[in-house]
Amino acid sequence: IPTEIPEPHRNQDRSQPDAGTRDRDIPALGFQNTPDTDPAIAANRAWGDRVRAQMQRSTLGLATVEASVIDTPAQLQEVIDGAVAASEAWRDLGADRRAEILHRAGDVLQARRADLLEVMGSECGKVLAQGDPEVSEAIDFAHYYAERGRELETVDGASFSPDRLTVVTPPWNFPVAIPAGSTLAALAAGSAVIIKPAPQARRSGAVMVEALWEAGVPREVLRHVQLSEGELGSQLIGHESVDRVILTGGYETAERFREIRPDLPLLAETSGKNALIVTPSADFDLAARDVATSAFGHAGQKCSAASLVILVGSAATSERFRRQLVDAVTSMPVGQPWDEQTQIGPIIGPAEGKLLGALTTLEPGQSWLVEPQQLDESGTLWRPGIRDGVRPGSQFHLTEYFGPVLGIMTADTLTEAIELVNRIEYGLTSGLHSLDEAEIATWMARVEAGNLYVNRGITGAIVQRQPFGGWKKASVGAGTKAGGPNYLTGFGTWTDAPVSV
Ligand code: ALA
Repeated sequence: IPTEIPEPHRNQDRSQPDAGTRDRDIPALGFQNTPDTDPAIAANRAWGDRVRAQMQRSTLGLATVEASVIDTPAQLQEVIDGAVAASEAWRDLGADRRAEILHRAGDVLQARRADLLEVMGSECGKVLAQGDPEVSEAIDFAHYYAERGRELETVDGASFSPDRLTVVTPPWNFPVAIPAGSTLAALAAGSAVIIKPAPQARRSGAVMVEALWEAGVPREVLRHVQLSEGELGSQLIGHESVDRVILTGGYETAERFREIRPDLPLLAETSGKNALIVTPSADFDLAARDVATSAFGHAGQKCSAASLVILVGSAATSERFRRQLVDAVTSMPVGQPWDEQTQIGPIIGPAEGKLLGALTTLEPGQSWLVEPQQLDESGTLWRPGIRDGVRPGSQFHLTEYFGPVLGIMTADTLTEAIELVNRIEYGLTSGLHSLDEAEIATWMARVEAGNLYVNRGITGAIVQRQPFGGWKKASVGAGTKAGGPNYLTGFGTWTDAPVSV
């Protein structure tokens, strides 16, 4: 049941280029990105206050979650059979009719922006400033994929046959945009979907699904499930009627899925260990800000987050850069998402294992530039930490931690810094702060990562303008990027090869 909070006012245009993007390479498709909520408008600040006030006691999505629990193999079989049966009518509806429904889905997601923010904050600790662009991204996926779906029917010399059944297994860290993106892509291509939100983000996923149902996606075509035990998950992934699984999660999960079913057609975005290089030519003010926000937005719990900053040449010995970085990081208030000033919310559960080690233990040669600090008894609120002196080949250099801790490395030259990045087995996002064209060209040509960002933060890909996808172990089976022109071509089979853009 939607709450009574209406849409915020809109006045920003996200389609304007940012510094560092390569808009000249992106075909003009007549697509406009959805604006985020502009806090410069007083009415929007009051709107934000209302959303935050609801967060703490939110129960949105609960009814859908409770109605979706699957306890037995027989129930799961019924859901799978139902979705497969419904897929035929969805496919035969045609891309134009599906596009109408998907555009409406974008409008409903916009109308329920407040609800989505409320539930993401309540359930996953996401602060408004992080959640708001995430809702914009979900809306963008709806409108963008609606149009790309039409194109699948008009590729010369090739014919596209959509999958019948796609299973979507999204993560909890982008509890709305990632489930929405995967689901909307499959629906736009003509496939039925079974979505199983992450256990930590059940209600957020449910509210997103409710929005799509409200827009006219039939409930038989889009099934929302919660599985009461792990064995049912294996049964779902391994089921022969499942044509494709979309996973966003750890690399180990992708491996586990492949063990369950070795021939599984899997599109997986997996882990990241991302670095931002700062050269002496960089604007240090901007670089310090972008490192801080890339490392600690959503408490560092993004596959795209900066986990390393690599300082080159005189930047490596610069007192000034380190001081600016410390200032930028220590001025980000930590707290609950319903407190207005909070920039870093709680992590998803008490820090443990690998992450707790990274927040508490230094390796040889390292020192704390900012020591992490646990702020509450539950172990979820942490003042973020910065470790200096991370050595090549050390554990911190090569391991993903997914939390509020950043490491500083140094290199004599840009070439050496790029080698440090390329030694990491994942290649998701990567950043460079430099005002030197030759350095930028060298880095772009050599660095091994799917998403490259120059002179901006390394999180926050934008539909159409910065499609998102990894390289090396950051991506399993995913050849095309989410939010890009060819993503939908992976949701079916072709009688001939599709034209590639
Ligand atoms: N798409 C998300 C980002 O770019 C993961 O930060």
